[in-house]
Formats: sequence, C-alpha cells, structure tokens
Amino acid sequence: MEDIIRIAIDGPSGAGKSTIAKQVAAKLGIEYVDTGAMYRAVGLKMKTEGVSPEDIEGVKNVLEHTSIDFEQGVIRLDGEDVSGKIRTPEISAAASQYSALAPVREKLVQIQREIGHRKSVVMDGRDIGTNVFTDAQYKFFLTASAEERARRRFLELQEKGEKVVFEEILADIEKRDYTDTHRELNPLTKAEDAMEVDSTNMTIEEVVNTIYSCIIS
Ligand code: DC
Repeated sequence: MEDIIRIAIDGPSGAGKSTIAKQVAAKLGIEYVDTGAMYRAVGLKMKTEGVSPEDIEGVKNVLEHTSIDFEQGVIRLDGEDVSGKIRTPEISAAASQYSALAPVREKLVQIQREIGHRKSVVMDGRDIGTNVFTDAQYKFFLTASAEERARRRFLELQEKGEKVVFEEILADIEKRDYTDTHRELNPLTKAEDAMEVDSTNMTIEEVVNTIYSCIIS
C-alpha cells in the first residue's frame, strides 16, 4: 500500500497543468487524473438537467443520481465518455460556478480520494495539495502570468480555426481566477509545502523536466 505515490499539481486555469501532468504521469508510468474534467462533467450535467447553482436541493438531488469517473484519460458521466462535450466556454463557466458548492465538492473529493487510494496518480486541480491529498509525497503549484495564459489559449483556439478576441480570453481567465481564489470552500491557493513553478518563460518540456527531476531525485 505504501508504494502508492501521489503527486499533486495545482494552479490557475490555463497554466498548462493537464498537459504537464499528463506527460509527467507518462514518464513515471502512473495514471493521470484530471479533476477539472470532473467539475466540468458536473457543470454539463446540471446544465442538461436545467438546475441552477442557487437551487442547492436540486443540485443535491441530481448528484445522487450521477456517476462520475476518470479512468485512463477518459472522463465518464453516467458511463458516457463526455470528453468532447466539456471544453466549451459555457461549460468552463458552469464548472467554475458549480465547483463552489459544498455538495459538489464533497462528492468529487470523495471520488478523487478513492482513486488515489487505489493507485499511484498524478492529479491536477485547484485543491489537490491543500485538501484532497494533504499528504501527497510531491506537490507543485504551477503558475504563469494571466497574459501568458491568455496568449497560449488564444493561439490554441486560433489554430483550431476559431474566431477569437484576445481581450475576451484574458477577461475570461481573470474572471475564473477571481472565482477560483475567492470562493469560500477550498479556494485555489498554494500549499505551504508545494514547490512553485512559474512557467511564464518556460517551454512545456522545461516544466515537465523540472517537475520530473524533482520527483526522481
Ligand atoms: O482545470 P479546469 O479549467 O478544467 O477546471 C474547471 C473548473 O473546475 C475550474 O473553474 C475550477 C474547478 N476546479 C475545482 O474547483 N477544483 C479542482 N480540483 C479542479 C477544478
């Protein structure tokens, strides 16, 4: 049991957590768990059911009949692979809103702890090092300036052929930063014992190598 290793990578939206976490997990030969995808799946479910974030009883009801799982890179909502449905601006906003609610966090944190007790994981999110696995052997806090995160997102969307306005993307990132760091429950914050990696002027490879060498040394 004690051979299980848990690596927490937290940080704001668009810092490159999932890309980095995925590559670090592959290098170590362990699983990667994207907890943001779980909150997105909840956002998708609530939108589909038409339940507003103010309707706490309604949210609780829906959660009781909802199953969420993340295995081998696939996010499943009630058994369906919803990877293709959760990366829209609408679902990003919904995930940020519903993730502030206690019943949502309780349910997802429990699922995340179960996964991390079964097997070694690299888990990325906002509260992994500060709440889900306070005893994680390795904790990283991955940041980048809001402008740089917006620039990366802008280029990514442009490459996909989408019509995008830089200022709108930056405003969206700043809004999500605010909600994620100001919510009452498990707000985004750096764990005291986390190593901060500012990726503003680093390539993906440099960040992966920094984190990987810290783990294997
Ligand atoms: O990492 P992401 O952008 O896919 O996350 C979507 C939302 O979910 C984000 O606005 C904050 C929330 N989230 C959270 O509250 N706790 C986590 N561990 C992961 C994500």
